[in-house]
Amino acid sequence: MSTTNYIGQATSRVDGPAKVAGTAKYAAEFNVPNLAYGYVVSSPIAKGKITKIDAAAVLALPGVLQVFSHENVPTLALLDRSYKDDIAPGGSPFRPLHNAEIKFSQQPVALVVADTFELARYAASILKIEYEVTGHETNIETKRSQGFEPGTGKTGFMPPPAPRGNPDQALAAAMHSIDQEYVHGTQHHNPMEMFATTVEYLEGGKLNVYDKTQGAFNSQQVIRKVFGLSKEDARVISKYTGGGFGSGLRPQYQLFMAVLAALELKHSVRVSLTRQQMFSLGHRPHTLQTVQLGTKPDGSLAALQHHAMHETSRFEDYTENVVNWSGMLYQCDNVKLGYQLAKLDVYTPQDMRAPGAATGSFALEVAMDEMAYAAGLDPLDFRIRNYAVRDQNLDKPFSSKKLRECYHEGAAKFGWEKRNPAPRSTRRGTMLVGSGMAGGVWDATQQKAAAKVSLTADGKLTVQSGTNEIGTGTYTIMTQIAAETLGLPLEAVDFQLGDTTFPAAPIQGGSWTAASVGTAVKEACDALGEKLLKLAQQLEGSPLEDASFEDVEFVNGQLRLRLDPNQAVVIRDIVQASGEEKVEADATARPNMAKQQQYSLHAHNAVFVEVEVDEDLGTIHVTRVVNAVAAGRIINPKTARSQVLGSVVWGISMALMEETVMDHKFGRYVNHNYAEYHIPVCADIHDIDVLFVEEEDDIVNPLGVKGIGEVGMLGVAAAITNAVYHATGKRVRELPLTIDKLL
Ligand code: MOS
Repeated sequence: MSTTNYIGQATSRVDGPAKVAGTAKYAAEFNVPNLAYGYVVSSPIAKGKITKIDAAAVLALPGVLQVFSHENVPTLALLDRSYKDDIAPGGSPFRPLHNAEIKFSQQPVALVVADTFELARYAASILKIEYEVTGHETNIETKRSQGFEPGTGKTGFMPPPAPRGNPDQALAAAMHSIDQEYVHGTQHHNPMEMFATTVEYLEGGKLNVYDKTQGAFNSQQVIRKVFGLSKEDARVISKYTGGGFGSGLRPQYQLFMAVLAALELKHSVRVSLTRQQMFSLGHRPHTLQTVQLGTKPDGSLAALQHHAMHETSRFEDYTENVVNWSGMLYQCDNVKLGYQLAKLDVYTPQDMRAPGAATGSFALEVAMDEMAYAAGLDPLDFRIRNYAVRDQNLDKPFSSKKLRECYHEGAAKFGWEKRNPAPRSTRRGTMLVGSGMAGGVWDATQQKAAAKVSLTADGKLTVQSGTNEIGTGTYTIMTQIAAETLGLPLEAVDFQLGDTTFPAAPIQGGSWTAASVGTAVKEACDALGEKLLKLAQQLEGSPLEDASFEDVEFVNGQLRLRLDPNQAVVIRDIVQASGEEKVEADATARPNMAKQQQYSLHAHNAVFVEVEVDEDLGTIHVTRVVNAVAAGRIINPKTARSQVLGSVVWGISMALMEETVMDHKFGRYVNHNYAEYHIPVCADIHDIDVLFVEEEDDIVNPLGVKGIGEVGMLGVAAAITNAVYHATGKRVRELPLTIDKLL
């Protein structure tokens, strides 16, 4: 019996105690000595230019150290004007304090630095700035005929595939068809932790930069390029992140501001943003989508067309894959997908959890529900009839695909077969009751990543990789992988991350961290294991003398023969006997492209939802959700379940509440605060059941994991929309499903 098998076991967060006890430090909590505080001044206008900045009164205040603006930002900054961060889309990244031009409302225009935060905030409030306002356009409705296809996009963006078959003709010839538009407004990331950077100014101008980010190396890269610092001079540290959801994939402007002020003042500086300023960092773009579907008499899809257009800024072409998934989720030989951007005077949108797919699956999966009703089919049966066994976009087989099992297991758990298909057919007291379902597909990606491991004579294993933890469970699953690979107790493993002095890892995003960093940790542990075997073979009378690496296993603190477990050496003794303080190894794990390129690599889910709708009030309650997910191997069912719970909560939020409302007269978001930007509270969330469907896959990566951070969000908003239709007979095609749209 083994006690060190941890992969696949529900495991509580190893970082939980530190978070609960408050010893886990976030970017704005590093109280370095002699700290100055910066406060950002934001533009009240959406477009125009700054004509005058009068800082005299502010600079006269005792305790104010400096006011930074485009007027005095030294040539030191922006050394490399062509810099791009790891995930920058096409175009030219926004450069804070670069010139007098205003490109979007809430653009940062100045930084006031003072001895205390309160003084900096007060000083910022009396800083006199004059603007010349020019006309802005922030309404995508005015751009319907001016969409364009982006030439290049950020990492991971794929232009929609070329049309296949004859979609127009097939649609015209279809027995039943639908043609509808689906719309959702702008949404902003609102992690609990606001963006902040604490820069510790060290002897000789070296910096320790404590940054809120989803990628320490990405932040470091920007500092290096913008300020011309070496890796050694700009160490970025990010041990804990209070939620990211994509908002930390690109370095945010407080990083630039804090580093600028620290270098100029030769002083430690912290810049924290306010909740209101969190609405100036990128957003899920307002998107207009149309879907046309047609069916043949047998209920198979004759044609599928999906077009999306969303906003971007004037200076960057933000891209996401909105429509591509529609060409692979169902079997259909006549498909046309379109994707366009429209330039507006807003900040560049930014990836938000399951970017493109959370929204694309809303349009497609509501359309599929409409199509099923139009064809007189059960929505689940309709999907199963059109199940895709091959990715028709890529014309490749799936490495694995257990969506069918998601449908069946989810439906069984939900009790879908008990459903009366007729809209408005079910009541519970004064409530109309409805149920709906939907699903989705998300990429299973592995990126290059590195890790280092070190085993000391006391039997403790230290594992390091410069990845980040955004609350997903990274600390915990990496500890599990390392402990199991080397047969050590969980308590003996210390996994460390979020430091640019550690081996390089990609930004934490795209649901790829478990696959990428997990594989690196596994490979580094295997490399260490091989060293340990060699050392064990040098022990006098070693029972492993003739063993090869394949013959041995690391279990329960021992290195032993697989076929004769009594022939064993205690791992700790190997290090002790070696005479060395520690044994180390490292590894850089890369995806096996030759193997992966032959397949389509994706995770899937199916969501079943019950709602109650109060007919008089128009209020919607999501009373029950079953989310069945097929995402390969689940390293930790407990943290994975938490990921899917969070996804469902956000899906409910997306469906019913979230929207950043723009006042187009001013080109300004008017609900940029937690009071008016609505998200669910505990009372809004009821039963959520998460199922993981068994799925084995040795192609995606050696661990067989597909990632779980995003897939759970797919289809949730669509399933709710479909359930509301089933409850009320009213089809709403615009999110959020607020009361006014139902009455
Ligand atoms: Mo995710 S939107 O890649 O943080």
